[in-house]
Amino acid sequence: MSNKYDRVFNFSAGPSVLPLEVLENVQKDLLNYKGTGQSVMEMSHRSAEYQKIIDEAEADLRTLLNIPDDYSVLFLQGGGTLQFSMVPINLLRNSKKADYIVTGQWAKKAYKEACKFGDIRCVASSEDKTFSYIPKVSKEDFREDADYVYICYNNTIYGSKFPYIPDTGDIPLVADMSSCILSEEIDWSKFACVWAGAQKNVAPAGVTIVIIRKDLIGHAPEGTPVYLDYKIHDEKGSMYNTPPCFSIYVAGEVFKYLLANGGVKAMHEKDIRKAQKLYDAIDESSLFKGTVEKEDRSLMNVTFVTGDPDLDKEFIALAKENGLINLKGHRSVGGLRASIYNAMPEEGVDALIDLMKKFEAEKK
Ligand SMILES: Cc1ncc(COP(=O)(O)O)c(C=O)c1O
Repeated sequence: MSNKYDRVFNFSAGPSVLPLEVLENVQKDLLNYKGTGQSVMEMSHRSAEYQKIIDEAEADLRTLLNIPDDYSVLFLQGGGTLQFSMVPINLLRNSKKADYIVTGQWAKKAYKEACKFGDIRCVASSEDKTFSYIPKVSKEDFREDADYVYICYNNTIYGSKFPYIPDTGDIPLVADMSSCILSEEIDWSKFACVWAGAQKNVAPAGVTIVIIRKDLIGHAPEGTPVYLDYKIHDEKGSMYNTPPCFSIYVAGEVFKYLLANGGVKAMHEKDIRKAQKLYDAIDESSLFKGTVEKEDRSLMNVTFVTGDPDLDKEFIALAKENGLINLKGHRSVGGLRASIYNAMPEEGVDALIDLMKKFEAEKK
């Protein structure tokens, strides 16, 4: 590649591409963060300098997503996987019942984990068709006394996304938004808890963001291990123990970058433009085919196949030679997947479409 740093277009599903400008700022500040004479990696999390970093990260995220005051923002460790456990431990607070919609492997893992803690029901699943669609679910499908309803809003592996927000009435709705957070605005009247691992649209791996309505905090049963209780983290401003300092710092830099570039609304418009042109190219192609029902397609993870695993492999290899990497579908489904998160430049999508067209022409 002949760009400034010989960087490739990285279509990885996560950890994934970060905005170049953010990486340059991090590089600039790496050895001496803003005159403190140290890097953020070396800084005490109890220092005034670090407190400013985490406070600003939270404030900027609140601005970007318009998070109401009655929601807490927590920066935790343990990845998405720990949230599969923390959600039921903390939210199964009355009937100990929860209803899950299973739209992919991550939702299924969350469901299975929750089953260890209460009376968990799978309300609907799209596994019958390899998770290639989002089931339609209405209010009547949920148990009235359920403590919460759980969804995975964007399914990273299968490339699908909820085209609607399930109406759960007064039952709190919990959503895993790991692979789509900050790609669209969030209607907080519909979600009681949104959580996201950072390593897709936000920052390097290490921090998981939990945004949760305050009345849902403080219900973990007695004997809950201290780290697994949202209350502890909420009371201590995500500083009960050493937080994932560097990831939070980079997340904060990404938030500042987003605020300076039109915020979530501008990102959403760009994300729609990028996804639309890639889906159009797939739909116009006689070689490549999309794998998800059109109305349920993800803006972030675009999944497609040629129908011939050898041809898929050939295209992935050719793409790599051309500086377009990580286009292989998840190991459990195969085919191709282009993850086009906020930080994927539009030129990356254009380059992919050009190569798909060339490849198709050669194969005719
Ligand atoms: C939507 C979604 N949820 C959860 C996870 C699991 O996250 P982690 O690997 O941080 O445990 C992933 C990982 O890719 C994901 O895409």
